[in-house]
Amino acid sequence: MIRRPGILITGTNGEIGHGLISALARQTDEHLIGLDIEELDPAFKEYLWESVAGNILDRTILDRLNSQYEFSAIYHLAALLSTRAEFSPATAHQVNVDGTLNLLTMAVDQARTRGQPVKFFFPSSIAVYGLAGLEEKNRIGAISEEQYLFPRTMYGCNKLYCEMLGTYYARHYQQLTAEAGTTRVDFRALRFPGLISAVTAPSGGTSDYAPEMLHAAARGSPYDCFVREDTTMPFMTMPDAIRGILKLMEAPRQSITRLVYNIRAFNPSAARLRERVLADFPKARIGFAVDQARQAMVDSWPSDVDGTAAHNDWDWQPQHDFEAAFAEYLIPGIREQY
Ligand code: SER
Repeated sequence: MIRRPGILITGTNGEIGHGLISALARQTDEHLIGLDIEELDPAFKEYLWESVAGNILDRTILDRLNSQYEFSAIYHLAALLSTRAEFSPATAHQVNVDGTLNLLTMAVDQARTRGQPVKFFFPSSIAVYGLAGLEEKNRIGAISEEQYLFPRTMYGCNKLYCEMLGTYYARHYQQLTAEAGTTRVDFRALRFPGLISAVTAPSGGTSDYAPEMLHAAARGSPYDCFVREDTTMPFMTMPDAIRGILKLMEAPRQSITRLVYNIRAFNPSAARLRERVLADFPKARIGFAVDQARQAMVDSWPSDVDGTAAHNDWDWQPQHDFEAAFAEYLIPGIREQY
């Protein structure tokens, strides 16, 4: 049987997934194949050639996809986020690590039969960093890709290890065999900051306080932010995150000096976020009720990241800084929704 060419996206029903499949559908004629643990939201079905509801740990499903399609690229978005992962760390490890290994081995297999590398996008996270606590976080400011890689969450451990797995499959796989030196997986990863969408709300993450605050205000529901007012970490709008993915994947290989990049846009404190939300929703009731465990997780993440490499290598610049994010994207988008 001849395999049909296509692009595979896992986690299609997640926040990044929704944004990515609509953006990819606009820019490519290739068939998009989606895989998610849940049935795809019907509003997004039009973007996909085939949408599979199934588990990335299910070998039968992956084998079927592997035999039916020839993938030029894989965008592996499926994961359990940081807060959820702390409640079921072993399951998180299975989904986040074993699932990624399954997709990487599929990419290798596909590359072998195609005779060409398969592009592989992996969304990593600011959670790969682990600072000792607030004092260190405040002292060091923006950190670069090689610093403080001591994650304190299962999710962060999973993401860091999968970056290494991707690097292994891109650079060192089969180093003792005759095929040594052939690049089989063209692995590229972005360490995302917290992402804020005007359309969807995240589930199970620890940066969720920012989108939750905004969506609650727009709905007219009271909201208690689970981190302190002075808590600062980097954020980015969802459209910028999608643009970042597309831009990194399009960048010529020779301009890419690393396989894993920081990417940044703005880094407001929770107090500043609250103030900005109130500017457009003056009646919103936003308080603070700190959850110490989640606070400790954000305190271990840097207040900012150094995005110089992404800027220099593939010309990354966000479209939305803090003010543009609210004025041009979040507020108009969210008003339309509620
Ligand atoms: N936004 C993610 C989370 O909070 C971090 O990558 O889990």
